[in-house]
Amino acid sequence: MRAVDLIARKRDGEEMSTEEIRFLVDGFVRGDVPDYQMSAFLMAVCCRGMTQRETADLTRAMIESGERVTLTRIHRFKADKHSTGGVGDKTTLVLAPLLASFGLAVPKLSGRGLGHTGGTLDKLESIPGFRTDLSIRELEEVADEVGVAVAASSESVDPADHEMYALRDVTATVDSLPLIVASIMSKKLAIENDALVLDVKVGDGAFFCSERDAHEFAKTALAIGSEFGRPTSAVLTAMEQPLGCAVGNALEVREAIAALQGHGPEDLAEVCVALATQLLSARDHRAPDELRDEVRERLASGGAWPCFVRWIERQGGDVRAVEDPSRLPAAGRRIEVRAPRSGVICGVRARAIGHLAQVLGAGRARKEDEIDLGAGVELRAKVGSEVREGDVLAVLHTNLRSDPYDWESAVLGALSWREEPLTPGPTVLGTVTQ
Ligand code: URA
Repeated sequence: MRAVDLIARKRDGEEMSTEEIRFLVDGFVRGDVPDYQMSAFLMAVCCRGMTQRETADLTRAMIESGERVTLTRIHRFKADKHSTGGVGDKTTLVLAPLLASFGLAVPKLSGRGLGHTGGTLDKLESIPGFRTDLSIRELEEVADEVGVAVAASSESVDPADHEMYALRDVTATVDSLPLIVASIMSKKLAIENDALVLDVKVGDGAFFCSERDAHEFAKTALAIGSEFGRPTSAVLTAMEQPLGCAVGNALEVREAIAALQGHGPEDLAEVCVALATQLLSARDHRAPDELRDEVRERLASGGAWPCFVRWIERQGGDVRAVEDPSRLPAAGRRIEVRAPRSGVICGVRARAIGHLAQVLGAGRARKEDEIDLGAGVELRAKVGSEVREGDVLAVLHTNLRSDPYDWESAVLGALSWREEPLTPGPTVLGTVTQ
């Protein structure tokens, strides 16, 4: 077989065999298929697509490119969640201890933020002492003991995705349904959990801008989950505006703490409850609707908080900093942006707010950049808020000494206004099951 012939076949819209897909993925990971040939193949897939069978074969070849994490040291029901990425998405910090409070284990390999979205590892590292460099063995031990463990994703798991994603990022080949599905599902299926839920974000700050695209992704991903015998469901959640009010690492940890103590923002609670009920339903074989009230009550009453504290402590985090969040990193400057007029907020563009948080220091422009754990945006108004002229709309947290931006215009440019009252729509848009 020659890579050049396979690229030509995909370019011409032909269906590839299992062996041909395997040849390309294995050859690429070994270094026999160079980056330029893999890039050409990825572009051909972008233009021509893949059948469900080809997507499953690609997923399998990617899983088998590296180590399988069997999680045999965990004796609880093992659950995982994947978010397609959004702004202010601190869901894992709340969902994982919530599930642990029901006796599940959530052993997660997570990534860092890049672009306008944040990463769970960066958020957790704003807790002084918190270690994310756990080995797979430690991940299993911690998850078995306290119900939650989060570690940096290892390059030995799904190396094909690490390398293919890096190429896709710079060759305009991220935007392809089969490539996205294979990338996400191979990472998730390489870790042998008992159930998986996908949090598929939809809207301005998300990967999928329309509900139709998000639904299409969910359906394809769930079919792959079925093919591999992994119970998988998907919850479509709105990402037109940021989730919750905090965007930025330590700010988001504070908000997650508030949610775990029963006084967090409603949209965050809604998403966490929807995701938790899907995973509990997989364990208990009960309909999510039957479980929802109990899960909501557990979160609202602070019932998951002790699990969060045990988890943070077990991974080396300073418990005093979560019990008293004023000890978490904080930026030296706070800039208030006030309303220039009275009215009702009808839009808070998530992508613009995510970008703003990044410029304030909360994100990286390049992988090797240092981030400012205390930096970010605290929104005081969201969709539906009625504000009066002079009210604080947002507080910007930063350590920047000079201002590369007109902060006020950046915040105001992300907002839309109207005169009439507005009831915000639901954050959970729908559920897709196998
Ligand atoms: N997230 C991933 O992990 N992979 C993709 O291809 C797109 C989003």
